[in-house]
Order: sequence, then C-alpha cells, then structure tokens
Amino acid sequence: MAHLALFASGNGSNVQRIADYFRGHPDVSIDLVLSNNPQAYVLERSQKLNIPSLVFSRKDFYETNYILDILLARNITHIILAGFLWLIPENILKTFQGKIINIHPALLPGYGGKGMYGTRVHQAVINSGDTSSGITIHYVNETYDEGQIIFQSRCPVVPEDTPETLAGKIHQLEYRYYPEIIEQIVLGKGATGDR
Ligand code: GAR
Repeated sequence: MAHLALFASGNGSNVQRIADYFRGHPDVSIDLVLSNNPQAYVLERSQKLNIPSLVFSRKDFYETNYILDILLARNITHIILAGFLWLIPENILKTFQGKIINIHPALLPGYGGKGMYGTRVHQAVINSGDTSSGITIHYVNETYDEGQIIFQSRCPVVPEDTPETLAGKIHQLEYRYYPEIIEQIVLGKGATGDR
C-alpha cells in the first residue's frame, strides 16, 4: 500500500482532485495534508475531505526533524507537492529519494525556478509570445524545478489569453493527468512520457 502525504501552500484544487481520484483506492491512500500557510484554503478542503492536516513553520521545516519524524511515524511512502512553494530540505530529500513528485504549471525547463509559481508563470509565458504552454510532472531534488521530468502535456496559448484563462487551461491538464501519473509512479508502473 502506498501512503501519500500532500504538501500545498494555497487553494488546493489539485489536492481536492487527487483526494477524489484515490477515494476508496485499494492500493493508495492519502494520509496527510501539510501546509506552510495557516490561511491556505487547502486546510478547509482537507477538513471536509476528512484527511488530517498539519501546518508547520519555516523553522520546523528547515531547522528540525519535526516534519520528517511525522512522515516516518505515519509510514508515508511518497510525498506529492501540489502548489507547494518552499524547497524541500535535505533531511526529507535524503530519506525520500526518488519518492517526491511535483507539478509545475509550464513546460520545464522553461519558466521554472525560484519565484516562478501560479500567475507569474502564466504571465511570463504570455509575455514571451510562446504559442504553447503546458504542465510538467517531475521528481524533486535540491533545486527548484530541476528534477528529472516524468511527464509533460501541452495546451495552446492564443493572443487573447490572460494569466487567468491560461491558468484555467493548465488546471484542466493538471486535474486530468496528475492523479493518474501519481498512481503509476507510486505503484511502480513506470513513467509515461508526453501526451
Ligand atoms: C498549480 O497550477 C500548480 O501547478 C502550481 O500552483 C498551482 C496550485 O493550484 N505550482 C507551482 O506553481 C509550483 N511552482 P491549486 O492550489 O489550486 O492546486
């Protein structure tokens, strides 16, 4: 059985989608939602979803083993980042090597790195004049958005797009593919490439 911990900093619509997808799954359970942001709407969602949640501080995360110990005590097997904006510290990276997955709302290696999240990413894509964007699902390492790519999917960018309309298209791709790719990875069914 795979036991997942989901990390999120904001709205949590991907957390919602992942929880919906795996409800009643025989081999995958969503055990915990963790957030660095006490105001994040994802915390309300997790309460409604009946998934335990936990808020932690920068100090807890970077200067102690508090979060690592909780993950180990709950037998978490994989960490899923879903709109989580902090780098994963070394103690967790080492223990969960190859078991941490992130989704990025653009086609990496473009439009990644520190500070590139949410609307900023979509604004940068629009400013560039690129005619396509998409999602990237990738393993997490010590650098923002640079871990090995597992999967990408594309959508068109048209001149009329605003950061909001592009975010809508990207979210649809995320909802469609992220749960499915997570399932394949955590059940050891291998990654899938590009759709
Ligand atoms: C998602 O689009 C995700 O790809 C992005 O934040 C959004 C969170 O939405 N992540 C990043 O930008 C990470 N660099 P949600 O809270 O509604 O799931």
